[in-house]
Amino acid sequence: MGTSDEQPGVTTARPQLPLRLPLGGGEGRGEVVGIRYEKMPDFPIANEMPILSLAARPAVQQLRSSKIREVANAGMGKKDVVAFWFGEPDEVTPDFIRQAGIEALNRGETFYTENLGIPELRDAIGNYLSRLHRLGGTGLITSDNIAVTSSGMSALMLTTQSLVGPGDRVVIVTPVWPNLVEIPKILGAETVTFPLSFTPKGWTLDLERLLATLEPGTRAVYINSPNNPTGWTIDREAQRAILEHCRMHGIWILGDDAYQRFFYGNGAAPSFLDIADARDRVVSANTFSKSWLMTGWRLGWIMAPKELIANLGTLLEYNTSCAPCFVQRAGIVAIEQGEPVVARTLTRLRKARDFLSARLREIPGIEATLPPGAMYAFFKVHGVSDSLAFCKKLVSDAGLGLAPGIAFGPEGEGFVRWCFAASEERLAQGIERLRKMVVHR
Ligand SMILES: Cc1ncc(COP(=O)(O)O)c(C=O)c1O
Repeated sequence: MGTSDEQPGVTTARPQLPLRLPLGGGEGRGEVVGIRYEKMPDFPIANEMPILSLAARPAVQQLRSSKIREVANAGMGKKDVVAFWFGEPDEVTPDFIRQAGIEALNRGETFYTENLGIPELRDAIGNYLSRLHRLGGTGLITSDNIAVTSSGMSALMLTTQSLVGPGDRVVIVTPVWPNLVEIPKILGAETVTFPLSFTPKGWTLDLERLLATLEPGTRAVYINSPNNPTGWTIDREAQRAILEHCRMHGIWILGDDAYQRFFYGNGAAPSFLDIADARDRVVSANTFSKSWLMTGWRLGWIMAPKELIANLGTLLEYNTSCAPCFVQRAGIVAIEQGEPVVARTLTRLRKARDFLSARLREIPGIEATLPPGAMYAFFKVHGVSDSLAFCKKLVSDAGLGLAPGIAFGPEGEGFVRWCFAASEERLAQGIERLRKMVVHR
């Protein structure tokens, strides 16, 4: 029931702002498409107008701007910069994948598709994941477990939108690609970061402490492995312990598996999909960007329990509605015929990783370990306490573009990230520039 001054069937609204309505006689009364203003406030004169913010809501205003961009902007217009700041392979998408997109366009595939993606692509992703993993060791992953998204970024955002609400507690293992920490904040979640530790053997996870942080009532834990920026890759034992713990407390696990194929051990990196059951609260977000060199195509997917995928079908309608059809066609060819691309890229990245890590370790004052996955060296520069200022100086004084560790969380301060998806020649050029700068500080 309405309050006493409301009339049945009439929606009344008192606008907070003075509206400029076509009101007869200027008496401050009017009716606008079914909304009746019983008594309009007098229009205040301009300098009495309430001062209202024209900016976004606080959660959006408080998002961190990208410190990687800040460094890149400092290098804008500078001709001689060798840049390794962005996380992007330096090769164009292979021709056979591009042709699949072009052919789809030429066939006139320019229309909307199903919200969850075209069935052939969902099948292809299900088959691909079933080849790499077996849910619970037995269950196949089917297209009912798959939602196609317009990028890995979108997969992470959609998953978060579907699971996390205001005030929910989300634990994120860091240092990490900043988007993963900012996404839950957009939705009003309480984010708790859990730092890895840097040791002479590389970045490690204190499992007991993480489990203690995953206290009852936690909604979700976000784990990016292989990790951007550190290359840290979770092992099976830790995965099992986390899965058991999360099962007990009903905590969702979101695996950001963007770099799953860039693992320098055997096969694909250990995945929660190898050990989870079909009814576990486990979601894997993935992307075509890295494995198939398709960053600009904006194509990714979510693998999740069927119930959640059904909900995502609806949610997708209110996001992008669907990924572009011709991009999805290219995705099918990539995932079905692209294994040689993945294998070639991995070989190239492994060589680049070994080369760069060895050269970095030759520079006095630099502490670099061998990353077990992903495509970044994340190394400590002794004496650097402001990595943003250091990276800006690298650009201006040495013509070298690297990403400041602070961009990946406070635990990344004092570190610098170098994307090694580049030719050995360029890496060597970069090393020379870094050496000069660090040695002559
Ligand atoms: C850890 C991680 N996850 C997800 C993504 C998303 O990739 P995209 O939005 O290009 O699919 C990236 C991109 O850099 C990333 O580094």
